[in-house]
Amino acid sequence: MTGKERMLITGGRTLEGQVRVSGGKNTAVAVIPATLLSDDVCTIENLPDIEDVHALVDILRELGAKVDYEPGRFMTVDPRPAEGYEVSYHNAQRLRASYYLLGALLGRCGKAHVPTPGGCEIGSRPVDQHLKGFRALGAEADEVGGIIKVEAGQLTGSGVFFDISTVGGTVNVMLAAVKAKGTTIIYNAAKEPHIVDLANALNSMGAHIKGAGTDTIRIRGVQNLHGTNYAVIPDQIETGTLMIAAAATHGDVVINGCIPTHMDALSAKLLEMGVMVTDYDDAIRVHSTGMHRAVNIKTQVYPGFPTDLQQPMSALLTTAHGTSIIQETIFEQRFRHLDEIRRMGAHVRVADRIAIIEGVNELYSAPLTASDLRAGAALVIAGLMARGTTEVYEPGYIDRGYEHIEEKLRSLGAEISRETGL
Ligand code: EPZ
Repeated sequence: MTGKERMLITGGRTLEGQVRVSGGKNTAVAVIPATLLSDDVCTIENLPDIEDVHALVDILRELGAKVDYEPGRFMTVDPRPAEGYEVSYHNAQRLRASYYLLGALLGRCGKAHVPTPGGCEIGSRPVDQHLKGFRALGAEADEVGGIIKVEAGQLTGSGVFFDISTVGGTVNVMLAAVKAKGTTIIYNAAKEPHIVDLANALNSMGAHIKGAGTDTIRIRGVQNLHGTNYAVIPDQIETGTLMIAAAATHGDVVINGCIPTHMDALSAKLLEMGVMVTDYDDAIRVHSTGMHRAVNIKTQVYPGFPTDLQQPMSALLTTAHGTSIIQETIFEQRFRHLDEIRRMGAHVRVADRIAIIEGVNELYSAPLTASDLRAGAALVIAGLMARGTTEVYEPGYIDRGYEHIEEKLRSLGAEISRETGL
């Protein structure tokens, strides 16, 4: 995080035209560690050019893997020289998903030391379910002095029953189980699109994973995985953020290269608000001319409304006609962006995990600070809607998950720029 930058957004510009969505962050951060499980060279394509991916390149190199990386194009990982099993504190803090090195290294060499991860401050984010999963496979797993240490002589397939649906826990157990002896069955597994994409990537390396995308995933362990050439799926949350930006500016935007079915929960809400949404094979058109109606939202696991779009969506709802009620069920502190947007004239009350938004006619610009990735995206949306020029500080948070966001928005007609070295 630089802390010495700000975005400047002059609101009121209507977004129009076509834009291409980038590869998925949350799938990339799982598939990149998965390459460590291979016995040969893996090439991963369609990776987004974002900070989380850059951090993982450094982590793989730190572990000894040979990585060729062309940002925005491909990454080739030769895991064979990798002998390390410890991730440095500095690198682990750069992204939440550094904890996927636990499952990947456990599967690769039976041992991993990874400092508790960094990432976005959206409430307490325990890893008890991950550790429970590793233990079910026969590993010892503990957190000692801020470092999560896992170790196993031989991982053995087993039933893993998650108390809650956890994306990270599901990914980590899949990574650890693909080369375990015997069969692992994950019950109450997460069903998000990136879980399916990770399973497809691992299967393309010779793994035997069935049921990804349902709540029961069956993994038959194999001895070896071979190399692969795999392209990750488009980013569901970037797609949604662009859809919301189009609606927020009463624009007409076609988002190309996306998977419309991944967006069904958001599309349904936008339609309910009075926004036109049209699905094509691999594109979505969002067209908004009239007034927006208030809607209620409850975040849920996939295929429910994603928590990652709650923040951008709540920015949009600040000017919808009527009262919207948002219930955040996944994370404890995912309304901090609303404290900022309130300073732009929004009428918002937050009580615990519920936000009540009374729509106002318009927002006005203010200096704002991003507190996490999607909060940053929400502030950008608010800035696009507001009268005047909004300043968004700490845009580094946004760079963690959105590839070239200013260029993409500018190509659609937004007036957005960045100042550095303040
Ligand atoms: C993933 O986080 C995503 N991150 C998040 O995206 C996303 O918001 C979240 O899933 C929900 O969809 C990545 O994929 C890298 P969880 P994760 O484990 O894995 C609790 C973004 O903006 N829990 O499904 O951390 C947890 O506290 C980010 O792109 C436990 O209690 O989410 C939360 O309340 C932010 N114990 C709930 O489960 C555990 O061991 C769901 O968390 C694990 C989780």
